Amino acid sequence: MFMWKDVPGENEIGPVVKDEELFASKIVTCVGQIIGVVVADSHENAKLAARKVQIVYEELPAILSIRDAIKSNSFHPNTERSLMKGDVESCFMSGMCDRIIEGEVQIGGQEHFYFESNSSLVWTIDGGNEIHMICSTQSPEKTQGYVARVLDLPLSKVVCKTKRIGGGFGGKETRSSFITAAASVPSFLLKRPVGITNGGKLLALDLELYNNAGNSLDVSFAVLERAMLHADNVYDIPHVKIRGQVCYTNLPSNTAFRGFGAPQGMIIAENWIQRIAMELKKRPEEIREANFQSEGSVTHYGQQLQGCTLGKVWDELKASCDLHKAREAVNKFNSSNRWKKRGIAMVPTKFGIAFILKCLNQAGALVQVYTDGTVLVTHGGVEMGQGLHTKVAQIAASSFNIPLSSVFISETSTDKVPNASPTSASASSDIYGAAVLNACEQIKARMEPIASKHKHSSFAELAAACYWERIDLSAHGFHITPDTGFDWKIGKGSPFNYYTYGAAFAEVEIDTLTGDFHTRTADIVLDLGHSLNPAIDVGQIEGAFIQGLGWFALEELKWGDAEHKWIRPGSLYTCGPGTYKIPSLNDIPLRFNVSLLKGVPNPKAIHSSKAVGEPPLFLASSVFFAIKDAIIAARSDAGYDGWFPLDNPATPERIRMACADEFTKPFASEDFWPKLSV
Ligand code: MTE
Ligand code: MOS
Repeated sequence: MFMWKDVPGENEIGPVVKDEELFASKIVTCVGQIIGVVVADSHENAKLAARKVQIVYEELPAILSIRDAIKSNSFHPNTERSLMKGDVESCFMSGMCDRIIEGEVQIGGQEHFYFESNSSLVWTIDGGNEIHMICSTQSPEKTQGYVARVLDLPLSKVVCKTKRIGGGFGGKETRSSFITAAASVPSFLLKRPVGITNGGKLLALDLELYNNAGNSLDVSFAVLERAMLHADNVYDIPHVKIRGQVCYTNLPSNTAFRGFGAPQGMIIAENWIQRIAMELKKRPEEIREANFQSEGSVTHYGQQLQGCTLGKVWDELKASCDLHKAREAVNKFNSSNRWKKRGIAMVPTKFGIAFILKCLNQAGALVQVYTDGTVLVTHGGVEMGQGLHTKVAQIAASSFNIPLSSVFISETSTDKVPNASPTSASASSDIYGAAVLNACEQIKARMEPIASKHKHSSFAELAAACYWERIDLSAHGFHITPDTGFDWKIGKGSPFNYYTYGAAFAEVEIDTLTGDFHTRTADIVLDLGHSLNPAIDVGQIEGAFIQGLGWFALEELKWGDAEHKWIRPGSLYTCGPGTYKIPSLNDIPLRFNVSLLKGVPNPKAIHSSKAVGEPPLFLASSVFFAIKDAIIAARSDAGYDGWFPLDNPATPERIRMACADEFTKPFASEDFWPKLSV
């Protein structure tokens, strides 16, 4: 067994703040924290040995929710952020506002729920002075860094390789590196390989935002920041004040999930839009349109919108889904059905593309042309099913004007492209595509004198001729995203290179007696500029939408807390498909249409394309608001017309209770709403 005392280097690690122990040394701050690793010659023996470990805990008071954290003033140090535009207080006091609405929105977490769990294989070479590993990570560079730190080795002696990973979705940006670091300690000390697996018109907005980071900061500060920068969604608000803070709780560390906080910021915005609509007895779509940002609008953080296609996306969707007719049909259905209700909603989105931390917006690539005309490309990005390698290979193939089959991307490796940013923030095809293009152009320029001297019948012939003439056929390419940057001290800047705009329409039917629902239609329009690969992009949109649907309406994490005594406080009850419901075939919309906006080249990214990975996830909120629309119809039949809260996710339990009727009346107090344990 290897524990904190055995760590050759530092036991404290973390991506931003080193506030997490590799192996707990004194205090365990969440259920499941690693105390040590058992190493054995077989899986069975390891399990037997692990069972022999006896641990005696002294139970200390724990903080498990945002509510508790705020009450106990439990925050991660130095994680307070604020953003300001105009003057919220004087606007509220001025009498200009006809109404001032206050409310609270609670948003649940989501499991990454991988096919392939975190895994890594670590081994030493050259007598144990160097360490190599293969890891399922979105950030080979971070994994390399953690391992070098815990083993006290220079980065140049630690190599991390990633062939491809079975889903990342933000969860393997940092959390996977801990597993590798834990495996590296025995591997290094024993000099043997070790493998580990585990399973109206808006005037002013005053917003306080809290997120639950759990027992270490991890990337939760960046998640909070992105939520704050997306709290306007697509709306122009003259006066804005946002304060955010990261809560410390005794839950296992939370991390990024597709969208990196942006969907959380945007769902709050859409909740107040929906509330305003109800208060003013208007359709939410009217309130949305009346407050849209447009070309030249300045966001609450000072970025001016350029190339804003929001209006185009919205109009195209509105026409294709025939909102008016859909509304009439739903009303008709609802007036002739008491226990089944239908609802519709149309929701827009705007997703900022770029890492907010400026230094991360850089990318490197290595392109090697061989004498048979085949090309080996390595770049800093990780393939996780999003089709990055295909897009990047396409860029190299088109640059050399050779078939796609002549280009090969073998793996991502820290010894080929150093200091790479994590593959996240959706911008990888933008930046690695550009870095590869840069390398291809260098090689083409070197080939040019040979190419112009003779007419070669193939690229292979040209490559061989260049070799003969001693031309370097290998090049390192590099790209930085220009003109981005943000200063949190003043809360102003242009953090994003551009935005990906989209909108979705959804129609659902709910069973008001069971709370079950079905998505009858989902229509999506997204602006992806000139898409690099429409087949991949449509797949990304469909996948993100269904993943979002899980978050908005199906998946609920239940933790043991002071109220739920049947499970230990701080333990996760919903840790498998038996208790945690992820989307299945049955949850796919009966009619599911995805289209890409045409004729809108994006001058800010490679070959006029746009980033796709995370932006469509939020569009599944159209299902959430369609559910709410159906609930409104059900409540109206029972004589309830006022606003009511609906936390995310809208699970059958919550839908059922919100459909207030004679059966739920005895429970229909504010306090009885099924509460989220956030
Ligand atoms: N698609 C698949 N199939 N698997 C994934 O893990 N991750 C998503 C998105 N699409 C993911 C995915 C997330 S969270 C991000 S940030 C982007 O892909 C990252 O890749 P990109 O920068 O190439 O879009
Ligand atoms: Mo994605 S959450 O930025 O890995």
